[in-house]
Amino acid sequence: MKILIIGGTGTIGKYLTSRFSKSGYDVFVAHRNSEEYPIDLESATSILKLFQKVGICDAIICVAGEARWADFEALTEEDFFIGLRSKLMGQVNVVKHGKDFLSDPSSSITLTTGILADHPVLQTTSAAMVNGGIHSFVKAVALELRTHCRVNVVSSGLVEDAYEKYKDYFPGHVPVSMDRIYSAYAQSVLGSSNGDVIKVY
Ligand SMILES: NC(=O)c1ccc[n+]([C@@H]2O[C@H](COP(=O)([O-])OP(=O)(O)OC[C@H]3O[C@@H](n4cnc5c(N)ncnc54)[C@H](OP(=O)(O)O)[C@@H]3O)[C@@H](O)[C@H]2O)c1
Repeated sequence: MKILIIGGTGTIGKYLTSRFSKSGYDVFVAHRNSEEYPIDLESATSILKLFQKVGICDAIICVAGEARWADFEALTEEDFFIGLRSKLMGQVNVVKHGKDFLSDPSSSITLTTGILADHPVLQTTSAAMVNGGIHSFVKAVALELRTHCRVNVVSSGLVEDAYEKYKDYFPGHVPVSMDRIYSAYAQSVLGSSNGDVIKVY
C-alpha cells in the first residue's frame, strides 16, 4: 500500500511516518521545505504538482496546516485568512485534487483538525473556526465522493510529543498518547470509515 503523508516531518507526521513504514507500507513524505516532495498548502498549484509527482496512491494523509493564535481583539482579518488559506482551503484542495490520484473507492484521504473545534481555549477563535469548518466539509464531501474514495478527519487533543510546547494553553488536559494517534489514522486508512470525524480526546 502506497501512503502519502503531507506534513510527514512534523510532530504527528513523523510518528505516523515511522509507524506506517514499520508496518510495511510504502510511505512518501511531503512537506513545505522538502527537497524531494515540496508542497505549500496555501497554493492549489503546488498541491496538484505534488500529486502529479507522487502518482497514484492508496492513501493520502494531511497532517499540516496553520492558523494564527492570538486574542480575538488582536487578530486582524489577514490573520484569519492565514488559517483559511492554509489549514482550511489547503485541506479542501488536498481532497479536490487528491481524489484524482487514488487507486480505487476503498482508498482514503485523511485530514487533520483538533480538539479546539469542540473545546476551544483562549486565543483560538481562528483555529477553532477552521477546525469546525473542516469537520462540516468532510461530512458533506464524503456524500459526493462515496463512489470515488473515502474522506475522514482525525481530531485529537494535545499529543504527548507536543505536550511540553503547548501545555500552558491547555491546563488540566491529559495528553493523547502517540499510539492512540496512530490508531486513529490507521482506522481511517486501513478501515472502512467514510465521512467520519475521528475524535481522540
Ligand atoms: N501537536 C498537537 O498536539 C496537535 C493536536 C491536534 C491537532 N494538531 C494539528 O495537526 C497538524 C500538525 O501538527 P504538528 O504539531 O505535527 O505540527 P508541526 O510539528 O508544526 O509540523 C507541521 C508539518 O506540516 C508542514 N507544513 C506546515 N505548513 C505547511 C504548508 N503551508 N504547506 C505544507 N506543509 C506545511 C511542516 O513542514 P515544514 O517543516 O517543511 O514547514 C511539517 O512537516 C496541525 O494542523 C495541528 O493544528 C496538532
